[in-house]
Amino acid sequence: MTSRSAQLCIALDGSDRRWILDTARALSGSAGWMKIGLEAFVAHGPRLVQGVADLGVPVFLDLKLHDIPATVRRAAANVAASGARMVTVHACGGRSMLEAAVEGAREGAAQEPPRVIAVTLLTSLDQAALDELALPGSAEATVLRWARLAESSGVDGVVASAREAAAVRAGCGRDFLIVTPGVRPAGHGQDDQRRTATPAEAVRAGADILVVGRPITGAPVPLDAARRILEEMTRAASE
Ligand code: C5P
Repeated sequence: MTSRSAQLCIALDGSDRRWILDTARALSGSAGWMKIGLEAFVAHGPRLVQGVADLGVPVFLDLKLHDIPATVRRAAANVAASGARMVTVHACGGRSMLEAAVEGAREGAAQEPPRVIAVTLLTSLDQAALDELALPGSAEATVLRWARLAESSGVDGVVASAREAAAVRAGCGRDFLIVTPGVRPAGHGQDDQRRTATPAEAVRAGADILVVGRPITGAPVPLDAARRILEEMTRAASE
């Protein structure tokens, strides 16, 4: 049982500006957030952020910043100035970098700063990939350790798979946001994701924002796919 309702965030992954804006417009009534990632941002920059924000849906700018603190601070300030309402940084950048991201977001914002969200372990990494990186312990233990580091650095939440969301919810404060990608409706393939879960499983695990890309944007009728996912989320929340 979740105490606040989870929101759907649609990942607008593509390079074609017209497709991104048309898709965002068609789905704007269904989503709590629109996500612009590296592919689209590298091609179109802050003007695309503004174009999507003008549709009236808050923009999550998923840049996964990871650099020295001074660079991340200035980049986060520029993100804030772009009008994005949420931005990602990598938790493994460490405490000083996370604190710098939070400070930069505050410095660059004309009004309320964007939320800073720390990416823990990418949902595309399976156990073999994690073993290769020589991270000790389970994925859940690493995600929880990094989530606690992010929380104590002033970050607003984490990106974590649904498989680790319950541990993060138990280990971090109730207001700490959990953003969950790797969401796959039953019967949909995994694509390049590995630690996946259905929309219902993600909601039950305590996720606040479910990030869904290809299962919606690649569907024959994206609006229908978004509605089905929203219905599944609503059912799971009321169980
Ligand atoms: O198409 P799909 O639903 O897999 O899209 C998931 C989105 O979430 C992608 O834009 C990807 O960059 C992003 N993401 C992720 N795993 C993370 C952080 C972000 O899949 N840990």
